[in-house]
Amino acid sequence: MTESLRTVDIIAAKRDGRALTENQISHFIQGYADGSIPDYQAAAWCMATFLNGMTPQETGYLTRAMIHSGDVMDLSLTSGPFVDKHSTGGVGDKLSLILAPIVAACGVKVPMMSGRALGHTGGTLDKLDAIPGYTTALTPERFAQGVAEVGFAMTGQSEKVVPADRKMYALRDVIATVESIPLITASILSKKFAEGSDALVMDVKCGRGAFMKTPEAARALAESLVRTGESLGRKVVAVLTDMSEPLGRMVGNFLEVEESVACLQGQGPADVMEITLRLAAWMVVAAGIEPNVDQALVRCQRAIEDGSAMAKFRENLVFQGGSLDEFDAMLGTARANYSVELNAESSGFVEGIDAFSVGMAGVALGVGRDTASDPVEPLAGIEVLKKIGEPVTAGEPLLRLWAEDKERLEAGLARIQSSVSLSKTAPQLKDSLILEEMSSK
Ligand code: URA
Repeated sequence: MTESLRTVDIIAAKRDGRALTENQISHFIQGYADGSIPDYQAAAWCMATFLNGMTPQETGYLTRAMIHSGDVMDLSLTSGPFVDKHSTGGVGDKLSLILAPIVAACGVKVPMMSGRALGHTGGTLDKLDAIPGYTTALTPERFAQGVAEVGFAMTGQSEKVVPADRKMYALRDVIATVESIPLITASILSKKFAEGSDALVMDVKCGRGAFMKTPEAARALAESLVRTGESLGRKVVAVLTDMSEPLGRMVGNFLEVEESVACLQGQGPADVMEITLRLAAWMVVAAGIEPNVDQALVRCQRAIEDGSAMAKFRENLVFQGGSLDEFDAMLGTARANYSVELNAESSGFVEGIDAFSVGMAGVALGVGRDTASDPVEPLAGIEVLKKIGEPVTAGEPLLRLWAEDKERLEAGLARIQSSVSLSKTAPQLKDSLILEEMSSK
């Protein structure tokens, strides 16, 4: 069959389950980005793709077409390899704030483009904005300078990078086609590769607090990410991690920055440290600094112990306009106006903490947002006072909520009332939160 570039023929081919050529996909994405293909045709194409899927080769073509729909970052001020990490989003997920300084202290160059909170999951940019003076609105030149001089820089996605994804993601959101493995793969990888990364370590979260709820769905996404990376000649490592209870003991913007500092000082909660160090170690391996994850883990651990990771965190804070004096004064003291505790109704052990409910309570308190334009509160949040497996006596506090006004506090409390389940006997704890790992060649 001859290759037709008529938009309606491209939609029909996908509708009938046929594989598209690279030309057809690139024509379609370019046309959608420049406005010559309207939303209604793009919507039909997304739905056909959602229903019929894509071959790994088509997913690679789609990713490449998306990358070239806009600007590609120029990081030539320094030499790579450039390695980034991306998470599919979780509750209490402050890992980027900890691992970027750790791996930068190990010599990895990290151009980190992050997102904002949406729905029950938090956003790295909102957390960083809680630091006085810190700006995530860097020009491309300043971003490249940060990567070259400090070893990492943190910014948001620019309007000019992968405009096709910006448009298509918003469209998918309202036509019920977000949950498509090839579309998610191309969306994530195009953004990461357009920002200049040579290699990517993906934290694919799985569980009630995650985008992918089951191990099967998380594994399918991980496989697609790794395989598509390989087809584009880039290294992608996917680590599947459990996201059933919130990560660590803090959920909130400043609260999570504070917990990240504790982690960099070697006093972080075990769950956060296990996943952070594993992802960091894979980044060190992907950069070619260590030959295997075991050796890389030792190097990352040393960066915490010798204070070099903490020094990198502070260097980046100053580079991005933050005030160290004001920041240090806030640690352990800055809290929102009002707080309330959720107490245990009986004695026993914490059996489960529903990460999704905690995330939604966070939205009510002002940590996150329902729609992209909602403002967030830097000091609002939730302290997880008892983690899964810990003993409690009746009346003891399980969670502490913080908000700037009483209405928000009440709304947060209402959403979290039944989020903690207790058992009479100690529950069996998981040995590890890392479920599986895959790597491209
Ligand atoms: N995150 C993304 O960046 N894109 C998707 O399509 C889904 C989640």
